[in-house]
Amino acid sequence: MIGTNNNGFASHQADQPISDLSFEGQLTLERLLPRLETVWQSADVSASVREEFESRLLQQWDKLFRLLHELYGNRYDFFYHLEQILLTAATAWAERPECLREVDRHRVIEPNWFESEQVVGGALYVDLFSENLGRLREHIGYFKQLGLTYLHLMPLFAVRPGNSDGGYAISNYRSVDPRLGTIEDLRLLADDLRAAGITLVLDFVFNHTSDEHLWAKKAQSGDREYQQFYNIFPDREMPDRYEATLREIFPTVRRGNFTWHDGMAKWVWTTFNNFQWDLNYHNPAVFRAMLEEMFFIASTGVDMLRLDAVAFIWKQLGTNCENLPQAHTLIQAFNVLARIATPGLLFKSEAIVHPDDVVKYIGEDECQISYNPTLMALLWESLATRQTRLLSQSLSHRHQLPENTAWVNYLRCHDDVGWTFDDKDASQVGINAYDHRRFLNHFYTGQFEGSFARGIPFQENVATGDMRIAGTLASLAGLELAIENESEHEIEMAIRRILLLHSISLSIGGIPLLYLGEEWGMLNDYDFVKDPAKAGDTRWVHRPRMKWEFLEELDDQMTSGGTSLRLRIFRSLQRLITVRKMLPALAGQKMELISTGNPHLLSFVRSHDGHRLTILANFSETPQSVSGNKLRTAGYGRFFEDALAGSTFATSSDLILEPYQVLWLNRV
Ligand code: GLC
Ligand code: GLC
Repeated sequence: MIGTNNNGFASHQADQPISDLSFEGQLTLERLLPRLETVWQSADVSASVREEFESRLLQQWDKLFRLLHELYGNRYDFFYHLEQILLTAATAWAERPECLREVDRHRVIEPNWFESEQVVGGALYVDLFSENLGRLREHIGYFKQLGLTYLHLMPLFAVRPGNSDGGYAISNYRSVDPRLGTIEDLRLLADDLRAAGITLVLDFVFNHTSDEHLWAKKAQSGDREYQQFYNIFPDREMPDRYEATLREIFPTVRRGNFTWHDGMAKWVWTTFNNFQWDLNYHNPAVFRAMLEEMFFIASTGVDMLRLDAVAFIWKQLGTNCENLPQAHTLIQAFNVLARIATPGLLFKSEAIVHPDDVVKYIGEDECQISYNPTLMALLWESLATRQTRLLSQSLSHRHQLPENTAWVNYLRCHDDVGWTFDDKDASQVGINAYDHRRFLNHFYTGQFEGSFARGIPFQENVATGDMRIAGTLASLAGLELAIENESEHEIEMAIRRILLLHSISLSIGGIPLLYLGEEWGMLNDYDFVKDPAKAGDTRWVHRPRMKWEFLEELDDQMTSGGTSLRLRIFRSLQRLITVRKMLPALAGQKMELISTGNPHLLSFVRSHDGHRLTILANFSETPQSVSGNKLRTAGYGRFFEDALAGSTFATSSDLILEPYQVLWLNRV
């Protein structure tokens, strides 16, 4: 134990069993705290608001000091940067709107609020959905009608003109893209969403800025301080040495990871597009600068930040520069600072990498929630193969997460589908991973004989034959082809596949996240090739502009009892969401697989707080059966009622699932 004197500081007796680093940390804090005085005075905050900050700072200080010391402790100017970082944090709290401080106070008491079965998410591009932020505010009723309580808006900050990678090349984190509105519009939207009980999620694009960001401009003009913000090299020597161990993420943009800049006559590290300059986090000034941007974004009323491209933020010669230990240290440092200055703010990890690496970003002290790319990919894998063995194998040891964290389960997002499952999981169930990925790519690009899918390749690497898949949920699930074939049967199967996937995502444990448009069965839109800023990136095929006439048509039909495909999908999904929210067993993450012996079924039990729900899903287009005995032992009962369709089942006989049917079984 560290002894404390009446200021809350460690007392410096030599006999205290305290490690050197903790001691140095305490000493540093004593020296730094008085320097925060200027912040409190200029912001004119009350004593109690200030004390809240100081008490959290004291509580978190040891952790923060260790993390920053690990990253930057060997810098001669470490103390200077620490001071800047603390000033930044104190300013963020001092200037935080009181309504957000209120949210902070609640969330600290209830750190697992997002694990509730009431939480359902949606994601959209503001321009494609409603043109601008002002008009988005008019559609909050639509989100409520669907049952959404979490809204992720794709990047909406000022970007470079032309191709901006869908907003991921940010030129200014403090101003909204003028086509979408202003920061004030964002604040108003955040207020309205908060009032409607909807959490707002925005991206924190912190791995790179656009080449038009002020920092990049300064670097381009020869400013050495800002050249150190990026990874800039005078010749090929270092790039070639790094390149020896790097992957290529966007191989159709350019080969390798570096881009020549004519003006500077230097090479710049660009993992993604040429105009997305990777930041150099070896420089603590970069950390502090991005921290300021993070707090600014949080101050607009954002509840969660989606940490973009987390895997790439730390570079080290001789490694693949992905998922390095320091990437975790960095995110943890951002996290502690959020705990101190904006304690209600949560992080969502976007690590679309090997499942062993995905999970390393998840933790209360790192990212509380994370995309679940393995589940996403394996649900598609199961649809293609009509078998759930790889999915079950993976879920059996990968679904459980630490306390107060959650998966974000999704079927499609704005990005591609990549087959990021584990090769060992595959070989355990007799699957050759390399061949299987080739098969899946063939299947989802519609080249495999009999495939129902209409995807297109994304980032096809001619050298390795590797590719990922673009396409909307409905097009990948067969609806596009079925409509083209004018086949009632195929349409029926496609709709069932769509609902099957949603029903798993809504029940398996975690936050379900829709990509808006899915609710009415949005198909691929091939017109993106007509826009020169989009033509080179096939992901635009699944990011069409919202067709409001469809929604009006939906509205008309709802009142007239219509039966269009869109209405059917909308209604069915809406119903799934409503039922989810009535089932407390669906809160939390606890999930146990049931082995039914039927390779076409995915079966599991969800339990929470004494509630229990048994879920059976048929991934094939033929009827499948489960033994009543199995259901009785797994579900703890003899009679069950399907919460979705209302039918009842007795376990005295076998239970038959229709093609692609899903049952959410409650004991009765
Ligand atoms: C993330 C985004 C993706 C973007 C990339 C670079 O992976 O999801 O859309 O291209 O980061 O910012
Ligand atoms: C980035 C890309 C995404 C890709 C992933 C893994 O997140 O945006 O397309 O799948 O990296 O390579």
